[in-house]
Amino acid sequence: MRIRLCQDAAELARTAAGLMIDEIRRKPDLLLCAATGGSPEGAYAELTSRRDQFPQDRLRILKLDEWGGLAPDDPRTCGYYLQTRLLDPLNISPDRFFGFDSQPADPAAEAARVQALIEREGPIDVCVLGIGLNGHIAMNEPADSLQAGCHVAALSESTLAHPMLHGAGPLPAYGLTTGMANLFQSRHVLLLISGAHKREITRRLLERRISTGLPASLLWMHPAVTCLIDQEAAG
Ligand code: PGA
Repeated sequence: MRIRLCQDAAELARTAAGLMIDEIRRKPDLLLCAATGGSPEGAYAELTSRRDQFPQDRLRILKLDEWGGLAPDDPRTCGYYLQTRLLDPLNISPDRFFGFDSQPADPAAEAARVQALIEREGPIDVCVLGIGLNGHIAMNEPADSLQAGCHVAALSESTLAHPMLHGAGPLPAYGLTTGMANLFQSRHVLLLISGAHKREITRRLLERRISTGLPASLLWMHPAVTCLIDQEAAG
């Protein structure tokens, strides 16, 4: 894991966007797996504001995970987040966007559908990840064992307290997420860590001890991870 310290969230966003732009220029049909939440928000804003610097007509985007049980038009969904922050600004046509439906009739079948999609479209070229306060990546929660492929996830209390879920409407009943092997087959992982609230989990990650109790720590075994940490998270 290559660690890069950034002065602040703005520098982290610029650096992350710059890395994404370099990769898209090299491979215009790149498959970008996109996390949602606070961590990548600045990077996506920077990326879309620099859209004259890279081609978008072949770029493909995969949604990293989704809150299960929320209505598809619920503004708290990961789909809505990506639609407004990436897909609309970059003009990504529906045939170049892949991901879990938030309200499938059969969640396990939906996970299998996206697994097959990743096998057809993948591997992921660039995977943008944040880290949960409990060390999760995507919705792979700390546990004795982790799952390889796309699956239905039981969500922890801390995950259900995520700011994305504030506001009107019921909490998700479950998560739909890519699994550890999906993430590990990515050519390049971009792990973004920003803010004082991430200081404790950052400290644990930087101990370089690998445990399924801290799913992000498995990234120490991936050959191409760039981890950007801002000063507030680094402490
Ligand atoms: P955040 O969420 O980017 O909003 O901090 C990360 C996560 O919980 O996975």
